[in-house]
Amino acid sequence: MENGEKKLQPLTKNKEQQLDVSYWNERWEMSETGWDTGFASPSITNYLSQYPNKEAAILIPGCGNAYEAEYLLSNGFTNITLIDIAPKAVEGLQAKFENQEGIRILCEDFFLHQGTYDLVIEQTFFCAIDPKKRNSYSNKMTSLLNPHGKLIGVLFNRTFTHQGPPFGGDLLEYNSIFEPNFEITTMAECYNSVPARMGSEVFINLQKKQNREFAS
Ligand SMILES: C[S@@+](CC[C@H](N)C(=O)[O-])C[C@H]1O[C@@H](n2cnc3c(N)ncnc32)[C@H](O)[C@@H]1O
Repeated sequence: MENGEKKLQPLTKNKEQQLDVSYWNERWEMSETGWDTGFASPSITNYLSQYPNKEAAILIPGCGNAYEAEYLLSNGFTNITLIDIAPKAVEGLQAKFENQEGIRILCEDFFLHQGTYDLVIEQTFFCAIDPKKRNSYSNKMTSLLNPHGKLIGVLFNRTFTHQGPPFGGDLLEYNSIFEPNFEITTMAECYNSVPARMGSEVFINLQKKQNREFAS
C-alpha cells in the first residue's frame, strides 16, 4: 500500500500491459480493488449538494462500485448513467441498483460510448487509463457533453513510484490536456479528499468551451 493506493498488477519489464477489458475484469474477479474507498468522495458530494438540476443527465464513467450514484439517487437525481468496462463490476452494480429507477448501467468502453450529458463525474477513472490516452479522454468528454456541460471530480496531484495504474500527474499537465476543450472554473488542490488521499488530489470543475465539438 502506498498512501492508500494498492499496487494493482506488476508489469513485466519491456512488455506493455494492455489496460483492456480482461485486465480490468481480472482485477474485479480477484477482488484487487485497492482503489475502492467504500464511499463517495466528500469533494464530489459537496459539489453535487449544490447542483441545482435534479433532472440533469449525469454520467459516471469507469464507475466501479459507483458510490456517487448512491448519493445522487438518495438526493433525488433522476437521470444517471453508469459505465464500466468490466462485466464483473457491472454484475455487482446490477444487483446493487436492481429495480431502481433513474439509473442506467452499461458495460461499455468509455471511449466507444455515445450519448449527451449535462454533467460527468470523474473519480479515479482518469488515473486508470493509459496516459497516452489522456488527450483522447479530454476530447471524448467534450463530445459527450452538452454545450454548457461540465466535467467535475478529482484527479491525483502526485506521482507514483510503481508502474501504474494508477498513473499520477500534476496541474501543469492537466492544464495542457483540458485547456483546449474546457473553461477551467476550478483546478486546484482539493481540501476535502478522502483521508488516504488528503493532500494528493486536485478538484476539477471544467466547463466545455462553446466552440468545441468532436465526432463522438
Ligand atoms: C481505478 S477503478 C475506479 C473505480 C471507481 N471510479 C472508484 O473510484 O472506486 C477504474 C475503473 O474503470 C474501469 N475502466 C477501465 N477502463 C475503462 C474504460 N475504457 N471504459 C469504462 N470503464 C473502464 C475499470 O473496470 C474500473 O472499475
